[in-house]
Amino acid sequence: MEQAREALPVEPRIWPQILIMEDEMSVAKGLELVLSDEGYTVDLAMTGRSALDNFSQKAFDLLIADLRLPDIDGMEVIKKVKNSRPDTEVIVVTGYSTVSSAVEAMKLGATDYLSKPFTDDELMSAVRVALQEKKAFNTGAAEAAVAEPPVPALEPLPEDLQRVQEIMTQVWKEFSGTREELIPILQKVQNHLGFIPESTLEEIARFTRTPAASVYGIATFYEQFRLHPVGRHIVKVCRGTACHVKGAERILSEIETRFGMSPGQTSDDRMFTLETVACFGSCAIAPVVVVDDSVKARMNPTKTREVMEGMDHENQDQDQQ
Ligand code: FES
Repeated sequence: MEQAREALPVEPRIWPQILIMEDEMSVAKGLELVLSDEGYTVDLAMTGRSALDNFSQKAFDLLIADLRLPDIDGMEVIKKVKNSRPDTEVIVVTGYSTVSSAVEAMKLGATDYLSKPFTDDELMSAVRVALQEKKAFNTGAAEAAVAEPPVPALEPLPEDLQRVQEIMTQVWKEFSGTREELIPILQKVQNHLGFIPESTLEEIARFTRTPAASVYGIATFYEQFRLHPVGRHIVKVCRGTACHVKGAERILSEIETRFGMSPGQTSDDRMFTLETVACFGSCAIAPVVVVDDSVKARMNPTKTREVMEGMDHENQDQDQQ
């Protein structure tokens, strides 16, 4: 664990998530062992399809990819991953290295290409370089974001703060206080409140015996966590190429006109928060809008407005009962 932290000294880079896509069990287990010993969080996928399934469920910082798989060509998997999650780093590991496949892998954005067999040191050196690249990518993204006019964060309402202690009491009862429970605890708090009040981070750090800076780093690194309140419903509009071509910008402009919010903002009545994503991986049904967990296919400005107005009315009715 210590070595991994030394290589990645910036707090948000702790605990990188790595997916190994490798169909030979002995090789996969060997890689897993080496990386786990270094403190990385590692998942395994024995087929290309299972790797893509993993990526559809969560973000990984690094994909270690074999090329010959029983179902899909490894290069195809890399292409899909890079399309849907361009900030994922990739290291190719192959027993059938050729110059043309190395060139192809690099063109697809792989940071390294290791021919089997390779040593643990060669692997670790490639992993560290790849994760440093990821850090640079994120920093670049962060700088780009800074160039945008800042969106003021919402402040918690008094009733939010009243519920915090109630939720924390449940957490103390349900969890035993190990470091491994950190993410489930953050998820629980967010599921109940819709965000994680900064005031709870220190309590969670003490409970899980984790440095407060690390807890803060994790809560700010993962996109799923929010440290500020959001609207009752989260509306995500895809701005990927397929959706853009089919009118995503018109949908965003309709939302802005009708609900008075731009991406990153929350409507004045705190009913909706608007976000954009690079691609949901559902380009065949573009343009895609996701409202909370519900995927809306082939949307247009009118349909989007109607869906949101319907939710707005439903909530108003509930509030009046
Ligand atoms: S571009 Fe892929 S879902 Fe929108």
